[in-house]
Amino acid sequence: MIEDGLIYLSGFGNQNATEAVGGALPIGRNSPQRAAHGLYAEQLSGTPFTVPRSEARRTWLYRIRPSVEHPPYQRIDNGLLCGPLSPPTPNRMRWDPLPMPDTPTDFVSGLATLVGNADVGSATGVSVHIYRANRSMRRVFWSADGEFLLVPQQGGLQLDTEMGRLSVAPGEIAVLPRGVRFRVVLRDAEARGYICENHGAAFRLPELGPIGANGLANPRDFLTPVAWFEDRDEPVEVVQKFMGALWAMELNRSPLDVVAWHGNLAPYKYDLSRFNVIGSVSFDHPDPSIFTVLTAPTEAPGVANVDFAIFPPRWLVAEDTFRPPWFHRNVMNEFMGLVHGAYDGKQGGFVPGGASLHPSMSAHGPDTSTWHRATEAELAPHKIEDTLAFMFETRLLLRPTEFALTCPQRQADYDACWQGLKKHFRQGHHDRRDA
Ligand SMILES: [Fe+2]
Repeated sequence: MIEDGLIYLSGFGNQNATEAVGGALPIGRNSPQRAAHGLYAEQLSGTPFTVPRSEARRTWLYRIRPSVEHPPYQRIDNGLLCGPLSPPTPNRMRWDPLPMPDTPTDFVSGLATLVGNADVGSATGVSVHIYRANRSMRRVFWSADGEFLLVPQQGGLQLDTEMGRLSVAPGEIAVLPRGVRFRVVLRDAEARGYICENHGAAFRLPELGPIGANGLANPRDFLTPVAWFEDRDEPVEVVQKFMGALWAMELNRSPLDVVAWHGNLAPYKYDLSRFNVIGSVSFDHPDPSIFTVLTAPTEAPGVANVDFAIFPPRWLVAEDTFRPPWFHRNVMNEFMGLVHGAYDGKQGGFVPGGASLHPSMSAHGPDTSTWHRATEAELAPHKIEDTLAFMFETRLLLRPTEFALTCPQRQADYDACWQGLKKHFRQGHHDRRDA
């Protein structure tokens, strides 16, 4: 399909084959003695060679020059990326949006890490970064530490990657696999968004269980770029993220020189408005796992390294039900963000571009005014409009960076949103609203 002038293949995790020049893809073999058009063959493996087929992700690249030919990487300044994590804290936290940069800043230099939960070398856990940029990258970036799930919040992006070009805007997401080089080109004056860097097994669609063969995110709505390449012999800075640190080298050519590729390890995008929201049509509501778009599993069944769930516009129709998210304590750790609009669990304070953190077993849920409103509301069918919140839910404790803990955007008074939940209990009375 064609969108924004770019051409995409459709379907999640397909074995795709695409060539930007006719005849560049070899037929019947991966690494012929001499690849067509003088190209080099190179394999990119995103999983160990011997994992089960259902897990295996790898792509064969046919490129102008192989990746091996490059000078040593040198350490460069990390800025606010992967700063030191604070000691574990059980406290709930919330942040206002980080401001847009006031000096020329590209996607890499504007990265700031808010929370993380692991040694990035342990192949588990996640890091959550905010990106902010006011100019396009000239350099090329990649992460050896994990795949990047991008959730744009403001401003459109064009992602020029080794496997092709993607256009992504607020309301959509993009996933860039570990190791894939990319350049972020701004389509608006400024851009800001969230990144879940997944250090564990790659994201995939959740199982559907009793839901059946359809619903939630449908595979065909995931779009992968067709092959596209640059044949540019001019200096390009290449920056990699390796064990949380930035390293750079100057290449004498563009590394985005893949003329053809085939395989199932590739970037993709997804329009969140295509998510088929499923919920209660009687009473109560399901756990938020019903909103899972993508999941990254661990070895333990049902225990995600990270789930990506969204809270999009939807009808609320449940009878005799407290309709917003209920009060709860959860063994998992929850990082939330808001792309636009308002979130139905909070009346204020959680704003687009902001974030909240609810560590394992910390009590959270609707704020006091939301509790009053929802408890007294007439339960006619109601559609929540103009809202797009999301959650990164992970099994390992999320720790804020020292930056996140001390930055002025952290709301010192977050706990106050639950003040005033007074006692209504009186023995012998059954009406909970009888205060
Ligand atoms: Fe929660």
